[in-house]
Amino acid sequence: PRLLQFIRALPKAELHLHIEGTLEPELMFELARRNGIELPYPTVEALRAAYRFDDLQSFLDLYYAGAGVLIQEADFYDMTMAYLRRAQRDGIVHAEIMFDPQTHTARGVPMETVFAGIGRALRDARDTLGVSGYLLLSFLRHLPEADAFSTLEQALPLRDRYQDIWMGIGLDSAEKGNPPEKFARVFARCRELGFRLVAHAGEEGPAAYVRDALDILRVERIDHGVRSEEDPDLMRRLAQEKVPLTVCPLSNLRLCVFPSLEDHNLARMLRQGLMVTVNSDDPAYFGGYLADNYLACAESLGLDEAELATLAGNSIRASFLPPEQKAQWL
Ligand code: HPA
Ligand code: ZN
Repeated sequence: PRLLQFIRALPKAELHLHIEGTLEPELMFELARRNGIELPYPTVEALRAAYRFDDLQSFLDLYYAGAGVLIQEADFYDMTMAYLRRAQRDGIVHAEIMFDPQTHTARGVPMETVFAGIGRALRDARDTLGVSGYLLLSFLRHLPEADAFSTLEQALPLRDRYQDIWMGIGLDSAEKGNPPEKFARVFARCRELGFRLVAHAGEEGPAAYVRDALDILRVERIDHGVRSEEDPDLMRRLAQEKVPLTVCPLSNLRLCVFPSLEDHNLARMLRQGLMVTVNSDDPAYFGGYLADNYLACAESLGLDEAELATLAGNSIRASFLPPEQKAQWL
């Protein structure tokens, strides 16, 4: 289709992607076999059929269970490389990839193994695919802040080795009941350390969490942020300050944040002058990679080619690339 070709040809950055959410069922079964792990589903088809979610938590339960097949450095490498190859096909020139180390260290996988596998794939992709990549270490917000601090402690000795890719810190997992202020101290510490900061807010949680992520955590981008629309003052501020929102339309559809894509507020927010970007979140679970998200929005929301180009340009502008590298894609 012509529109899909147009979308793929736009230089794009993907800014909201959980690498554990790119683990396709086929690779999950292969890694399970490699590591002698029994999956609770007999076949790839049976596993895929279980991807019917009512809300964020029902997804997270499967997503954390699926990540249990990741044991060795090569597992993290293969998963990351598969995503980056797929990303290149979609015209992604730069990806800022979140990972959840607590999901792995809690199972006894060393922090070094996680960094080594993902990091080697990012460097190989840069050299062989021409796709650049940064890492955003995300804290799990359903766990205590003390756990986030100890995760930071475990990761900091690796900072020098990965200084070309580990750029920032994120906050993900169950939003409701886990407000930004729960992580105020660890985010202040990460800020002192010079990390770029992002946080999920306003996906299932209220608009107040978006405000608090900006004011208390002092993040530079909001992951999701779609519930900001419930607060007109906040909407004016987001437009004025050009705060990037990394919106994930197919994720929102699958997790029932919106009843249908036609009801999604992406186009409305874009037309109000907000710094909106389109992203895939957990593409293996939500039925589409980045170009699929752009295309679904074009079809359901009537985005024209100029608006699609604006979204792609926004993704480059909202990235953490240095200005001279952004200029190359704008
Ligand atoms: N929201 C919160 N946590 C997550 C998500 C999400 O969409 N995907 C992976 N972890
Ligand atoms: Zn997310």
